[in-house]
Amino acid sequence: MEKMWAGRTSGTTDSIADDFNSSIRFDCRMYRQDITGSMAHAAMLGAQGIIAQAESDQLIDGLQGILDDLESGALEFDMGCEDIHMFVEQVLTQRLGDVGKKLHTARSRNDQVALDLRMYLREEIDEISALVKAVLEAVVSQAEANKEVILPGYTHLQRAQPILFSHHLMAYAMMLLRDLGRLADCRKRMNVSPIGSCALAGTTYNTDRRFEAEKLGFDGIALNSIDGVSDRDFCVELMSALSTLMMHLSRFSEEIILWASWEFKFVELSDAYTTGSSIMPQKKNPDMAELVRGKTGRVYGDLMAMLTTLKGLPLAYNKDMQEDKEAVFDAVDTVKMCLKVFAPMLATMTSRPDNMKKAAQGGFINATDLADYLVKKGMPFRSAYKISGQLVAKCIAEGCVLETLPLETYRQYSDLFDEDLYQDIDLLTCVQKRISEGGTSVQSVEAQIAYVKEQLA
Ligand code: ARG
Repeated sequence: MEKMWAGRTSGTTDSIADDFNSSIRFDCRMYRQDITGSMAHAAMLGAQGIIAQAESDQLIDGLQGILDDLESGALEFDMGCEDIHMFVEQVLTQRLGDVGKKLHTARSRNDQVALDLRMYLREEIDEISALVKAVLEAVVSQAEANKEVILPGYTHLQRAQPILFSHHLMAYAMMLLRDLGRLADCRKRMNVSPIGSCALAGTTYNTDRRFEAEKLGFDGIALNSIDGVSDRDFCVELMSALSTLMMHLSRFSEEIILWASWEFKFVELSDAYTTGSSIMPQKKNPDMAELVRGKTGRVYGDLMAMLTTLKGLPLAYNKDMQEDKEAVFDAVDTVKMCLKVFAPMLATMTSRPDNMKKAAQGGFINATDLADYLVKKGMPFRSAYKISGQLVAKCIAEGCVLETLPLETYRQYSDLFDEDLYQDIDLLTCVQKRISEGGTSVQSVEAQIAYVKEQLA
């Protein structure tokens, strides 16, 4: 079939060039946005008197028919077309004749593709945000179910101080809230209409770009037509937000993988989200968490591909920009899959407070509290720190813990020690005393849970 752009050239291209050039196999997923955008354009052309009102109505009906037929399966994509924009226009012209050829007045595919992609991605952002909220709900419900469960908090993966499991979980809630914020910010900047930029310079027709923008639910229009068709910041920004989100899910996954190991056994994953080994009968592998961790690299790759494609591109549109879609579609598809499996995996995970407690009882994680005890009795912190360290060394040498070291031994190090020290180094006391805002006390965790719930409501 003759190319729609045949004229200057014969429009007969080599089939290998056609395959290389065409994007319909991946941009066909934007058919709804493309058709809706065209309907708004047809309405604007009619309202402005650029085409007759009857022609505008005919175009809108024709476009609606194409949409219905694609949705019902009566019409299939023609993979021989260059892209979704050409496909819709071609079918419209086949169905309506010459009137169909009027649709492309005062617009170009460059603004169409920029428009479709923005409309497509803003919907994806809404879906992804809803999925992030589902993960957040799972985090909050686990935090509520494990509110007073104590485990060691780690730095350098060395036992550091006792914390509540709920406190640890709520750290991820804060990250996910920021991820939601980044997605919302990105959506705001994305929601600007490029339509009417035309190829790059604007148009000589008396168009109404704001009419179209409003019809399509945009907050405004691109104020520079060259920028309108050249800008792919919204893809970069989205993939950057998605990369950060994946980085959080990946850290969380890594911890779940560690916690589910026999070395920790802090949690047990539901059978529904684990796999077995083909050879080792005893295995229960945390594959879902591992895949989320693994797919993080893939999303970073999509972001890098986009940044690298754009780097060095002169204004305005260049065909390189067609590469935007596969990267950004892969990123949103991957993130959605990860979120869909992460939420139920987390919600069905069970904790093992007994093992967490056991781990918390080793490793002298109340040594800071022992130092704080002396500080409260008047000793400078540095001196108290030293004595506490010496007592830990003593315990290691004697094979005991701070809780079982006799008071006489304590007294050899400082006469500020009294019977009440045992109360102060009790793990529950250590946790409950961390009353600073954002600390690990039950009270603080409850405030965090309340805050997150309020943000979600
Ligand atoms: N398929 C193209 C893309 O995805 C649409 C824009 C084509 N514009 C052009 N001037 N060739 O980028």
